[in-house]
Amino acid sequence: MNTAVHSVHEFAFCVPDLEAAVHFYSSFGLDVRREAGGLGLYTDGHAQRWGRVLEGGRKQLLWLALGVYQQDLAALLARCDAQQVRRIAPPHAEVPDGVWIAAPDGVAICLQVAAKCSPSEKAPREFAPEGGHAGRAPCRSAIRQVRPTHLSHILLFTPDVNAAVEFYCAALGLRLSDRSGDIIAFVHSPHGSDHHLLAFARSAAPGLHHSSWNVNSFDAVGLGAQQMAQAGYPDGWGVGRHVLGSNYFRYVRDPWGSYAEYSFDIDFIAAGVQWPAADYPPEDSLYVWGPALPADFVTNHEVPTM
Ligand SMILES: [Fe+2]
Repeated sequence: MNTAVHSVHEFAFCVPDLEAAVHFYSSFGLDVRREAGGLGLYTDGHAQRWGRVLEGGRKQLLWLALGVYQQDLAALLARCDAQQVRRIAPPHAEVPDGVWIAAPDGVAICLQVAAKCSPSEKAPREFAPEGGHAGRAPCRSAIRQVRPTHLSHILLFTPDVNAAVEFYCAALGLRLSDRSGDIIAFVHSPHGSDHHLLAFARSAAPGLHHSSWNVNSFDAVGLGAQQMAQAGYPDGWGVGRHVLGSNYFRYVRDPWGSYAEYSFDIDFIAAGVQWPAADYPPEDSLYVWGPALPADFVTNHEVPTM
């Protein structure tokens, strides 16, 4: 039986300037709504509020709400208690209803009974129509704004990747997808999810490295990069392709030094599939091909400065 978290229901972070966040995420192609004392991040045609942005002194991860089925909650809490996971008070006035616990690195997590919002099948892949040799590329004159379909995953900084994997797997039922030593690790849900709904990269402190948003074509990754460059966000990484997860990517640097990722064709791990988790050498941990990694790509700007 799969007793496990099924989704990243919502991630929340604060930034010093909400208007900058409105411009960045609207330009990225999200539906940005002013609500609940901050911003809600939505995608077209989907009721889920994937992210919340609140105003704060500096950019900082605030909490994660992880979706669970009602029938899984009691067993998950028993596992948390057996693992001596700390229960905590809600970290903010306007937070989701649920049971609040602390990850080993102190990140506040809400276990929230909710419908599954992570994908339950592989996202569609749009290619040029079969059978013709002419006109296979989209026309530049017909370009529309790239609009991601849903949140695929988020990548968190953490001081101890092994401790994070142990906690999210042993206490919350997620499963290791792949890893590269103690540098980076990826986990999925046994209820079915992308290759990773959460990933962890080693740093001196917790933090939000990037949120990743699904698009349904390779062209959309390139068009998204162009769209953001034209909106004033030319910095980032990609277009390229990951080894772990297999997705094509373009990371766009946000105003606070973290990233939003356009992701296409990530591996999907269906419910009941036993994924052959492997430990990859460091050279496979980032990409197969693409431009050189920006020097500060894995800098955690949430590390407190003295
Ligand atoms: Fe990613």
